Parts: sequence; C-alpha cells; structure tokens
Amino acid sequence: MTDVPEADRPGSSTASHTDALLDRLERVVGAAHVITDPDVRRSYEVDWTGRYAGEARAVIRPASTSEVVEILRMCHAAGCPIVPQGGNTGLVGGGVPVDEGRGAIVMSLRRLDRRDAVDLVSGQVTVGAGVTLAALQRHVRGAGWDFGVDLGARDSATVGGMIATNAGGLRLVRYGGMRQQVVGLEAVLADGRRVERLGGLLKDNTGYDLAGLMTGSEGTLAVITRARLRLVAPQPNRAVAVVGLNTLADALEVVVALRAELTTLDAVEVFFADGLRLVCERAGLRPPFEVPTAVYLLIETADRPAAPDPAHTLSEAIARLGPRLVVDASIVTEPAARRELWRLREAHTEVINALGAEVGAPHKLDVTLPAAALVDFVDRVSDLVATMAPSAKLFLFGHLADGNLHVNVLGPDADDDRVDDAVLRLVVDLGGSISAEHGIGRAKRRWLELDRGPVAVEAMRAIRRALDPRAILNPGVLVSPDGIAAP
Ligand code: FAD
Ligand code: MLT
Ligand code: ZN
Repeated sequence: MTDVPEADRPGSSTASHTDALLDRLERVVGAAHVITDPDVRRSYEVDWTGRYAGEARAVIRPASTSEVVEILRMCHAAGCPIVPQGGNTGLVGGGVPVDEGRGAIVMSLRRLDRRDAVDLVSGQVTVGAGVTLAALQRHVRGAGWDFGVDLGARDSATVGGMIATNAGGLRLVRYGGMRQQVVGLEAVLADGRRVERLGGLLKDNTGYDLAGLMTGSEGTLAVITRARLRLVAPQPNRAVAVVGLNTLADALEVVVALRAELTTLDAVEVFFADGLRLVCERAGLRPPFEVPTAVYLLIETADRPAAPDPAHTLSEAIARLGPRLVVDASIVTEPAARRELWRLREAHTEVINALGAEVGAPHKLDVTLPAAALVDFVDRVSDLVATMAPSAKLFLFGHLADGNLHVNVLGPDADDDRVDDAVLRLVVDLGGSISAEHGIGRAKRRWLELDRGPVAVEAMRAIRRALDPRAILNPGVLVSPDGIAAP
C-alpha cells in the first residue's frame, strides 16, 4: 500500500478519518501497541503456510477485556473491519487480513495472557485468550492437572485461537476436541458488548449455548477474551509405539483391535513411507526400521502412576495382532525416546511447509472420512492428484482414530484450486467432512455449502448477521454475510 494515498484506498474515506481512528485507538492501548510499521506488521499479515497474505491498516494489541471492548466500540462506529488473531498458526487463512477492500485492523490477543490459579476442587482453570497452549500446559501441570488437547503448534497457538477453530489435535481419541474442554467463555461482541459465563457450571441448560456457538466461529461472531477450561487427570505412565504395516486397511484393523483392548489409548496417528522419507531427509531424523514399510502408526498409551508397565501392556497388545498385520514395531517409554518417535509424526507439517517454500505453498486439505471409506478415499485421492497434476507431490498423514487425514498437495499455484475442488467433492461424495479440525477460514469457504447444504449455511448467515450486523468481524472468513450493506 505504499504508493496509494491513504485517502484513495478503498474503504478509507479520508486520510484524517483513518488517522483519527488510529489516534483514538492509541489512546486506549498506548502508541506502542498500535503497529503501523510495515516491517513489524508483516508477521501478523502472512499466514503460517505463506499461502494467504494481505495488508492491515494497523495491528492493535490490547492487554485486557476492557481494552477489547473499547476497540470494538470504536471500530464498530467507524465500520472498520477487525481480524482477531492469536498465535497465527491457523492453516486456513482465517487470521490474516486478505484485502477485503476496507482496510482491516488485525487485533492480536496475545497480551491477554493471564492465568488464574487452578481450581483444584472443580479441576478447572480460567485463562486469557492469549495464553499459549504450552504455557497452559505448564501452568496446569504445575498444579497436578493436565489439559486434554495437545497439538504440534503448542508453543504459539493460543487458547482463544484454539477455541475459535475448535482445534482437534493429537489426543482427541481420548478427550475430545476444544469444544469438549470449554466450560465457559468471556467474549466481546462486534459492537463492544461483553458476554460472560465463567462460573464453571457443568450443568447449565439456560437457553442457547453461546460458548458452544462461539467455539468454532473463527472470529466471526465475537472476540474471545477469556475461557474456563475443564482439566484432566495427569497420566504420566506412558509408552509410545511406531508400528510398520503393509496397507491402510491393516492399519485400520489394528486401530479397531487396540481400541477394543486398551482403555489407555491417548493417540493413534498415521503417516506413510513418502512422508517419513521427507521428514528423515529434512529434519535429520532416523527412520524407525531398517526396512521401510508402506504405512506407519504412532500409538501412545498413558496411564496413572501406579498402573502396570505400559510398555508391557502395549507390546502384548501389538504382539497379539500377529505378523499378518504387524510388519515391524518399536516401543519406548523414556521421555527422550518418546519425543524422538513423536518427531517422526509431528515434523510432517514443518518439512512440508519447508518444501512449500521452494515449490509453492502447500494446499492443505484437512478432511474426515467415515472409517469404512478411508481406504477408498486414499486410493482415489492418489489417482486424482496423479491425473490432474502429474508433477504435484501428495503427502498424507493424520489422526487415524478420528478418521482425520491431512491431504497436502504441493505443486499447483496458490490460486489454482482445481485439485482442491476435486478432492473436496470426493470427500463429500464419500460422506466425509471438508474440514475436520482446521476450520473453513478463507481456504474452504467456496465449499461450505457443498458440505453443509443451503439451509444450514443460511442459518449460519442469519446468526452472523444477528451478532454482527455491520459485518466488521473477520470479513471474508467462514461464511459470507450476504445481504448486508457494507457500512
Ligand atoms: P490463529 O491462527 O491466530 O487464528 C485462527 C482463527 O481463530 C482465525 O480465524 C482467527 O480470526 C480466530 N481467532 C484467533 N484468536 C481469536 C480470539 N481470541 N477470538 C476470536 N477469534 C479468534 N490444528 C488442529 O486442530 N490440530 C492439530 O493437530 C494442529 N497441529 C498443528 C501443527 C502445526 C505445526 C501448525 C502450524 C498448526 C497446527 N494446527 C492444528 C492448526 C492451528 O494450530 C490451530 O488451528 C490453532 O487452533 C490456531 O490457534 P492460533 O492461536 O494460532 O489462532
Ligand atoms: C497436524 O495434525 O499435524 C496438523 O493438523 C497440522 C497439519 O495438518 O499440517
Ligand atoms: Zn491435525
């Protein structure tokens, strides 16, 4: 935006109007927290994959709910779009200001990082939206509890962002996703009014579940400022196995058998030979077996301190599966060895992104399939990519116990979504969901109606219009509030 006079930019009626708004916002948060320097703004303007980017009028960094209230009041009155942002680790372009023509302000919530003392009686905690997952984990573990959701972006992803995306993660098989952990929320509506229910009541049938509605709303219904979260008992007695298999069908048979046998399953993840090869080459990791297999499962069990040896229980369960299913297996319990095996799975995201920096950002399609359709899907998606984009690279991995596969396609240009379209249509044809855990954001908006149907999408629009009639919250994300005149 350097060569376009401010007054001529779409949506800024005059330069003094824009300046006046930023001046007033500076009086709320302090000049240091209204960032206009393009170099400093940049990391807030580009998404984690590099596929989505835009320019913000400014980045504003409130430190309290009352500052969020003031900012939203002013932006609502001025009709200025706001893009809420947490750790900016989202993978569907929902937290960055791709230009909608009205000069959006990015509102970074990271300074809302207060952690209240863990409520030992209820096993709950109230934290600010800007607390990172890793900080939450340290905080609650220090008080003898644990948190039920974990994911690879733990050092940056925030509680607010994880609620806004209804993040799933690595332990959903045991504890559910973010929606299952949220006991209450404090949030600020588009016009600056605050809603709060943080009492931690587990039974509360007093009308619409606003916290449930805001969970997964991707910054389109309100800005989440605080959350009351359910905690889980720590399970420090852990074993991690990597199991090598010949086919995905065999892997699914293993999942069914282990789920029936082990009550302590914490994670069941899948990856494939080509992904493992890339991870080993680029992240300098050792492959788990001398002879590669086609498919790999990473399995973690976790139990209470006094429980029987977890490695023994897990290795017996794997042994019972027999050589028909299991080609090779490695089981460890030491923390460093467990982390090493986990790296084989978690490093997929970063090495695919690093490859994307060379060949073009990955098209990340995060989908769920019914268990019975997974094998067919993987066969067909491989054929489809090979036919439509012969020089593209396809990497699959994911959370197998949840039926959630991450389909990563590298090769097509960022704005060429023909392969995306074909893959998502295949998913819907097979009875799956076009977004398992990352959300719709900008990336999947085009296909929301294909998946949910016109009536559900119109209901979503109506909710959005009711809560944000001037359409200032995250325009361009999730569902268009059609029919609303721009302010
Ligand atoms: P951001 O990226 O900042 O924002 C995401 C969305 O939430 C945007 O639409 C934004 O507008 C909105 N938002 C953010 N904060 C607020 C707020 N306070 N109020 C209202 N709206 C808000 N996701 C999974 O589900 N499972 C995984 O296993 C997983 N693993 C990942 C591993 C890596 C290495 C990476 C990079 C990402 C991974 N993700 C995963 C995706 C990402 O971490 C999650 O979507 C996470 O929930 C985003 O949190 P954030 O704070 O970074 O949100
Ligand atoms: C994961 O499971 O690692 C994440 O959802 C990130 C990704 O899809 O790359
Ligand atoms: Zn995932």
